[in-house]
Amino acid sequence: MSGAVIAGTGSALPVRVLANRELERLVETSDEWITSRTGIKTRRIAGVGEETSLLAAEAGRRALAMAGVSPTELDMIVVGTITAEMTMPSSACLVQKDLGASQAFAFDLNAACSGFLYALDLADKYIRSDPNLKILVIGAETLSSRVDWQDRNTCVLFGDGAGAVLVTGGEGGRGYLAGKLFADGSLWELLHLEAAPGHNPDLRPNNEQAPAIKMQGREVFRHAVRAMEDAANQVLAATGVEAGELKLVIPHQANIRIIKSLAEHLGLGLEKVYVNVDKYGNTSAATIPIALDEANRAGLLAPGDLVMLCAFGGGFTWGAALKKW
Ligand code: ACO
Repeated sequence: MSGAVIAGTGSALPVRVLANRELERLVETSDEWITSRTGIKTRRIAGVGEETSLLAAEAGRRALAMAGVSPTELDMIVVGTITAEMTMPSSACLVQKDLGASQAFAFDLNAACSGFLYALDLADKYIRSDPNLKILVIGAETLSSRVDWQDRNTCVLFGDGAGAVLVTGGEGGRGYLAGKLFADGSLWELLHLEAAPGHNPDLRPNNEQAPAIKMQGREVFRHAVRAMEDAANQVLAATGVEAGELKLVIPHQANIRIIKSLAEHLGLGLEKVYVNVDKYGNTSAATIPIALDEANRAGLLAPGDLVMLCAFGGGFTWGAALKKW
């Protein structure tokens, strides 16, 4: 049986571009440091009307349009995000409302930067149980609202955006071939974002500033390289595919040095790896679907091409998936 086939892709990015030079005015940093240590030159920053669910809905609308599927045909909407504008309802419910997807059930999934990959793997399992299902899988974030703009260790890294894919059943061996997902909660402190303070004085009292992302960058870097490489190799082994047969690898876009290291460990030239971290920074769960949409619209993918997706994020969570386009 064929796994989930991507019938349409879409993405949506905030209008405002924040360049490294502007960050030099906010924190003690430089365009040279950010570029050489991360590969990031610019990132997008959301404004009014560009909240997580609105970016998610726009990306979803574009994926639906490409697939020629109407919102009322949708059965399920899942949004990978850690920056929903509300705890309740989920971003996915707001997307459902915006799109008018009256027949779809909807929920958010929190796996940090691996959120889209986790959601896609889940959608694949639904499709395998009913190939007629039409599922919108989205990764959407506005991390600009959850970083400390005085902390140069983190504020230069992140950006906002959303990407989406419309998946349904396929034929002829196309679609989602295999996925491997992992988590290690014992390392949570290396990369975390506390929830908003609450009203129970015995838990987290309501007198703190909005929490921001905290990260031990060097440690995260070390784990990210090893984990994504291991996940990708496990997927290759499970499917009997050689790395050299891959048309394109679409890794989580956090740092060009992580991406280069992954390519090197897989024995692939950088021309086989999609990179847009220079333009958008780390948009967490949105990096992979935005990159997938760009690669798709640029005509880089043809039917039958093998595409590897690899993610790593807070939790830690990580994984890889192989698709036959
Ligand atoms: N500008 C100038 N200097 C800086 C900046 C900055 N923006 N940020 C840190 N520095 C300084 C540090 O203070 C340190 O100075 P010191 O040596 O005097 O203490 C020095 O640069 C080196 O710091 P390192 O942290 O060792 O730098 P490193 O080369 O590791 O790069 C980075 C840091 C870019 C954060 C890197 O470690 C990284 O990309 N880590 C992984 C991030 C990631 O992959 N996240 C993925 C998941 S995100 C998610 O799930 C939401």
